[in-house]
Amino acid sequence: MKNKMFKKLALLVTGAALSATLFAGYQQEPAKVEAAQKPIIIQGPMPIEAENFAQKLEKVKVEKSGTFVFYKGKLNDYPVIVVKTGKGMENTAAATALAIEKYKPAAIINQGTSGGHDPNLHVFDIVLGKRTTNIGSLKTTHMSENEGIAPTKWIPMDLMASEGSGSNPDAEKIRYYEGDKGLLAAAHAVKDTYTKGKIVEGTIGSADFWNNEVDRIKWFHTNYGTSVEEMEGASAAQIAAAYKVPFLGIRILSNNKTNGGTYNPGTAEANQEYVYEVVKQYISDIQKK
Ligand code: 5AD
Repeated sequence: MKNKMFKKLALLVTGAALSATLFAGYQQEPAKVEAAQKPIIIQGPMPIEAENFAQKLEKVKVEKSGTFVFYKGKLNDYPVIVVKTGKGMENTAAATALAIEKYKPAAIINQGTSGGHDPNLHVFDIVLGKRTTNIGSLKTTHMSENEGIAPTKWIPMDLMASEGSGSNPDAEKIRYYEGDKGLLAAAHAVKDTYTKGKIVEGTIGSADFWNNEVDRIKWFHTNYGTSVEEMEGASAAQIAAAYKVPFLGIRILSNNKTNGGTYNPGTAEANQEYVYEVVKQYISDIQKK
């Protein structure tokens, strides 16, 4: 009797498992279509630099990991993930590596506010990062006690030139990460939708540093060719390059000490409005391919 019941139960369980497998198999088709569309990642450091964009997405699911927030949604039926990375190089590097491993993105845009290094750029102007570079990685000259400090003599230090960094002359070169051509093309194609300032290609410099000394800003502008400074782009660019993921920094000026441009937090939203147009354009570009 017991044996019979056991057999019946075993049959039932096997049947259920079989139909579950079949059902899962049946469901796999649409999942495959989804997988073919690699998401586009939009990074913003602060809530004001990420939440506007996240609100524009459809069917948003929020995922959290550590302090990072991923708003997974759709834009014109294409997967787009807005990531609130938090401020600074470390948060951004970690959030970038995590997003690449988790979501295998087609491209990454790092966007937000910045401070002007170029006196020809004004608050609400936007810089497309043709190049992005780390301006916080420096080596000092040798000076003895009571000789003071000489920041203008500091030497760039390339953290990726790890081979014999003490003596390797390559370790003293400035490493620039090139903005992806496809993303740049999309950004240019929708330039006219932005009316609050001008849009230029330039060099984005990043460090966990807020420079308010105009001569120091000038020093970076002259020696690194920086158009703007911020605290995230170069770390995202470095990690994106490590994984060969197309990358672009898009930064609006929220302040510019070199021409008296005072801080305006409203720039963060304006930048997201523009980046939204860029992403729409990029989606239509990659769908044509
Ligand atoms: N210097 C450094 N970071 C700036 N940011 C805006 N303006 C500047 C500036 N002048 C951005 C950084 C960071 C936050 C403080 O604002 O990228 O996320």
